[in-house]
Parts: sequence; structure tokens; C-alpha cells
Amino acid sequence: MSNKKHFETEAIRNQTERSQFSEHSTPLYLTSSFVFDDAEEMRASFAEEKQRNLYSRFTNPNTSEFVNKIVAMEGAESGCVFATGMSAIFSTFAAILNAGDHVVSCRSVFGSTHSMFTKYLPKWNIKTSYFKVDEVALVESLIQENTKILYIETPTNPAVDILDLELIGNIAKKHNLIFIVDNCFATPYIQQPIKFGADLVIHSATKLMDGQGRVLGGVTVGKEDLIREVYLFARNTGPAMSPFNAWVLSKSLETLAIRVEKHCENALKVAEFLENNIKVDLVKYPFLESHPQFKVAKQQMKLGGNIVAFEIKGGIEAGRKFLNKIKMCSLSANLGDTRTIVTHPSSTTHGRLSEEDRLEVGITNGLVRVSVGLENVADIIEDLAQALED
Ligand SMILES: Cc1ncc(COP(=O)(O)O)c(C=O)c1O
Repeated sequence: MSNKKHFETEAIRNQTERSQFSEHSTPLYLTSSFVFDDAEEMRASFAEEKQRNLYSRFTNPNTSEFVNKIVAMEGAESGCVFATGMSAIFSTFAAILNAGDHVVSCRSVFGSTHSMFTKYLPKWNIKTSYFKVDEVALVESLIQENTKILYIETPTNPAVDILDLELIGNIAKKHNLIFIVDNCFATPYIQQPIKFGADLVIHSATKLMDGQGRVLGGVTVGKEDLIREVYLFARNTGPAMSPFNAWVLSKSLETLAIRVEKHCENALKVAEFLENNIKVDLVKYPFLESHPQFKVAKQQMKLGGNIVAFEIKGGIEAGRKFLNKIKMCSLSANLGDTRTIVTHPSSTTHGRLSEEDRLEVGITNGLVRVSVGLENVADIIEDLAQALED
């Protein structure tokens, strides 16, 4: 029997070694530190001559189980976990970059990632050059002698645009750049960026990995040598994931494949319903033929994901009215939950940006984002339909 198991099997059977109690399901190791038999064992462990748990800021059986699963799912060499998706992103950049380095990134990135690029990294004289989702042809012209990282998210948040992983991966390789992908919207079940040349893959585990809106978490996986730098940064600066959150998340991963299948089935039905509604101008869902990057999405994604974006006729006011009429779905900032969530970015999360800045990232005034959940799809559609009525 080969060592390499299927995705679903890794998610379930990749488990921390059983304790002396022979438990079936991994217990919660709620402990801040671990004990040593003698001074020599302690010395050898701190010198990393012996691989074992020392202190839960470094590793813990629960965080190790969680990260080992993601490493297997993404086809990575190694990985490191964090308290949140943002601490994974910041720690990864902080570990790899030096003062004066340069980053090339797609402009359509998560809001706090944009703040990291524009507000915090410049403190260390690290500048970022942006390209828009439809400007991939410009990427090579943005690369400078000091460029170190090429960064993207796909699908993007909230406009659900798709970037060509293979094309961008090849540019990174040609210019010897570290290619980093935020794979949060897809999950490793749908898309594995390492196959297309990514050196590191980052997730907010808060979203579909937890899948039930309970805990925060982040993870970075990829090449061993890069992860070693990221791990040492995290070990020393302390953005550690709590064992409790790792325990919850590792259990969640056992059902990731089956949950994501159903999320995507529901999302496609919601997208098709919206496409036929006269109050809706445009629907963006990667697996709708009308999506501008449908062909690329089909090449790199197994399914279309659970996020549907659509343009409601009537701009900002129509968007606000729609949210006010929603009865069952939740108005919340999270996504990737069992509960369907609707947001209207231009009057809420992105309300402080100028219209010009919003348009740069594809957020039109009437754009609504739906994170399609696991309720019966007929009930989701009924709620959206009544909210779209006059
Ligand atoms: C694409 C993407 N990346 C990163 C994050 C940040 O994750 P967290 O909230 O776990 O810090 C989010 C959160 O919504 C996200 O959507």
C-alpha cells in the first residue's frame, strides 16, 4: 500500500500518535509546556537535536496534527500555523523580506493585506507595485532588481475574479521570485497552487476550513527552506495558534471535502438563479460560462467555490435595500460558514474607500457578495428572491 493517501483519507487519518489511553479521536492537549526527563534531554531538545514538543508557542500535538493535514492536502513540504489568517500573511512577509525589498502583487487582495502593503511594510522601506486582475500582461514590467515576492489571491475577495496560476507561476519562476498564493477562497480541495508553481500557500482557516464560524486560524505551507524561516519568525515573535483552535480546526478538516462539495453545488444553483433574475445586472461565479475567466477557472479549479458576487440594478441604495429585506441569510463580515452570509461591500466593508479606489478592485456600487452556506438551497434562493422583489 502506498504512503500517499487520497485527500479525504489524509483529512481523517493523518492523526497525532495515540496516547497511553488509546483514544480514537485526538484529545485536546491544553498545555502551555511539556516536561523533560533530565537536563540532557532538555538540552538536546532546545538544540533541535531531538524533535519533540517543548512549548506551545513553538509546537503542540494539536497544532501539528492540523498543519500536517494541510501540508498533505496542498502537496507541500512543510507548514506553520498562526492565530489568524492575517498573522499568517504578515509573519510570512516579515520572515522572508528584508528592508528595501520590493513586492509585486495583484491589487485585488483582502483589505488588511492591502493595509499591510501600503501602511506597514513601507515602514521598512518595502514597497509594493500593484497590477489589476486584467493587467497580468504588465506583471513583468513591474519587476525590479529588488523584487522578491510575487503575490496573488484567486478567486479574489469580494469580486470573485480569477487569476491564471500557471501563467503567473511561470513569470515568478523566470524571474526567480517567491510566488505566494492566498488560497483561502478555494481551499486545497478545489485548488492546489503548488502544482502551478507556488512556493508558499496561505490560508485564513477561519473561513471554509473551520466552516462553522467558530474559531480564527491561519496557516502557511510550502517549501521547506522558506517555511523554516517563517517558523523561526513565528516561534520568536509569538503569533501562535491556540491548541483549542487547532483541535477544532483539525476535526473540521475531516469533513472539508464533503462540505465544500455541497457548498459549491448550492453556490452554482444560486448563481444560476441570479443570472435569470431581472433585478440583477451581472453575476460573477467562476463556473458560470459568463465569467470572464471561466476557461482558466475550469483549468485550475475542481469546483467553483462558495462565493457568488452579483451586481444589483440601482447601485448603493438598491444594495442597502436588498440587505434590509433579507430574512434568513445573515448580514455578517465572515464567509465560508454553514450559514449563508450576504454583504454589500460598497456601503459596509469598503464604504470608506473612494468610488475610484473601489472600482480599482472590482467593487461596483451595486456589488453584493453571497457566501453560500449549507442550508437547503431552495430556502436560500427563496430568501434572495424575496429580497430582490420591489
Ligand atoms: C482572502 C482572505 N485572506 C485573509 C483573510 C484574513 O483572515 P483572518 O480573518 O483569519 O485573519 C481573509 C479574511 O476574510 C480573507 O478573506
